[in-house]
Amino acid sequence: MCGIVGILGHEPVAGALVEALRRLEYRGYDSAGVATLENGRLARRRAPGKLKNLEAVLAAEPLHGTSGIGHTRWATHGKPTETNAHPHANGRLAVVHNGIIENFRELRDELRGKGHAFESDTDTEVVAHLIADAMGGGLSPVDAVAASLPRLKGAFALAILFNGEEDLLIGARDGAPLVVGFGERNGDIYLGSDALALAPFTDELAYLDDGDFVILTRQGAEFRDARNQPVERRHVKTPTSVLLVDKGNYRHFMAKEIHEQPEVVARTLAHYLDMSEGRVALPFALPVDAAQLPQLTIAACGTAYIAGLVARYWFERFARLPVEIEVASEFRYREPPMRRGGMTLLISQSGETADTLACLRYAKAQGQKIVSVVNVATSTMARESDIAALTLAGPEIGVASTKAFTCQLALLACLALAFGRARGVLDKKQEAELVTELMAIPGLMAEAIRRENRIEMLAGNLSRARDVLYLGRGTSYPLALEGALKLKEISYIHAEGYAAGELKHGPIALVDKDLPVIVIAPHDGVYDKTLSNMQEVAARGGRLILITDADAPHDFGGDIETIAMPAMNVAFSAIVYAVPVQMIAYHTAVFMGKDADQPRNLAKSVTVE
Ligand code: AGP
Repeated sequence: MCGIVGILGHEPVAGALVEALRRLEYRGYDSAGVATLENGRLARRRAPGKLKNLEAVLAAEPLHGTSGIGHTRWATHGKPTETNAHPHANGRLAVVHNGIIENFRELRDELRGKGHAFESDTDTEVVAHLIADAMGGGLSPVDAVAASLPRLKGAFALAILFNGEEDLLIGARDGAPLVVGFGERNGDIYLGSDALALAPFTDELAYLDDGDFVILTRQGAEFRDARNQPVERRHVKTPTSVLLVDKGNYRHFMAKEIHEQPEVVARTLAHYLDMSEGRVALPFALPVDAAQLPQLTIAACGTAYIAGLVARYWFERFARLPVEIEVASEFRYREPPMRRGGMTLLISQSGETADTLACLRYAKAQGQKIVSVVNVATSTMARESDIAALTLAGPEIGVASTKAFTCQLALLACLALAFGRARGVLDKKQEAELVTELMAIPGLMAEAIRRENRIEMLAGNLSRARDVLYLGRGTSYPLALEGALKLKEISYIHAEGYAAGELKHGPIALVDKDLPVIVIAPHDGVYDKTLSNMQEVAARGGRLILITDADAPHDFGGDIETIAMPAMNVAFSAIVYAVPVQMIAYHTAVFMGKDADQPRNLAKSVTVE
């Protein structure tokens, strides 16, 4: 996902633009650029690679303008080169864009037919020429934007600067987030992809809705809706937590966020439990009659989807509630028939993931009540849901989701118990016992974190693997999927997660001395079943890594290493066992010299399909 920033200031803005872009690095990018108005004329500086390359260009050829836009690009159309880096410009304007213009080829052909020449391979450049073409027909910048936006199909957020217009910056949003920031001190005004980008400058924001565009001058902001009608957008204050974003003493944000988990999971549990009474205490009423609910539908992507897979076991076990769960990108095009009055749960750290947002809108149109589990209170999903259940993980900067995942699990566990009570499945005593188990989770996570040195030693061996297999049963099966996803996405080692019971139905063919098999097996009711799977692996010379709180099996042939976990009740063990799974991926990636925070090709939130 790309990062956008724009500033109408009173001092030169190039440095501030780069500072804002640095706060958007967590989104993942492969090139960057800025444009300012130098004595009314547009001037651009762009560079492939990291921001330090752009800073070198700016040091060699400084920009002094007080009006500017900036961008970090995550390539969708065209390679990460200077030519494809934003801002894209022509004689009249410069534009930066987050999202995808799906009909750009058709528009490009039309504009080429009118004599417009294109320099890049990007979809974004079409926007610059479309608006310039409208201005060539005599329209003002504002009217040219208003005329062009309806022709764009796809998801986009835009910031546009015009030649000769020192006091004008236009932003537009349809399907990708964009926010206006109001400078307290000196009337500066800002545009950004999110609150994080603008945090160094202001905490007073106003979010555009889908279809909006906004006309910014140093006198203020005028919002227009999709029908080009003036509309009010309320000002909100950024939660101060957004401002506190730095690595502290950790080498990576991912390491910091793994270590923050006991604290933020405790904070999330405290928000949904009455710990003194030993009961669930949701800060909202369930939007449906839980006792009558025939089924719960869950849709999400990536790690958030895996959180949903874990939660399915809990909803079905503690609330006897049937759950249908699907990856959002399949759900939205399957267009499943949905019973009116049902409930759909969307899980999303960013609250902006395009596929998950599309599911929210589909389910809403089907008459479903919508509950979203999000980590960003001001996100689009939060604003479009009947209930936004917030994970209190704080800003998650590492692209690989860790603390958001375990906070999602903690919140979903509380939700499952709330449904269990409402459906008469759990009596007070059973609820109290399960709440007590949940309250022990943060301490157990802190215990698990103390296994880090052991895990770091194992990571060295893993780093030489070509493939890795993760196995688990019950709620450890989705954790096996998560372990494989984490390892893949930050170390680039191919890994697969499998239900342990499926081993003999195919994957066992992979087993040899070069294949590390990581088995997630708390001492629960299926532990012995998993033990026999491990013996199948050992008998074929496979290398076993066992994560368990059981006494390590002694009469075990073969090569086995154990990560001993603290003894615990197993109802919610998945929340605790996520820690070693995350650490294995992190330390393997670091051992291999990979960028654990910004892995290649990945973005923190995928606001495009
Ligand atoms: C998680 O480690 C990945 N970075 C990715 O799978 C992520 O979980 C997915 O893109 C969903 O993002 P969301 O939670 O913001 O919707």
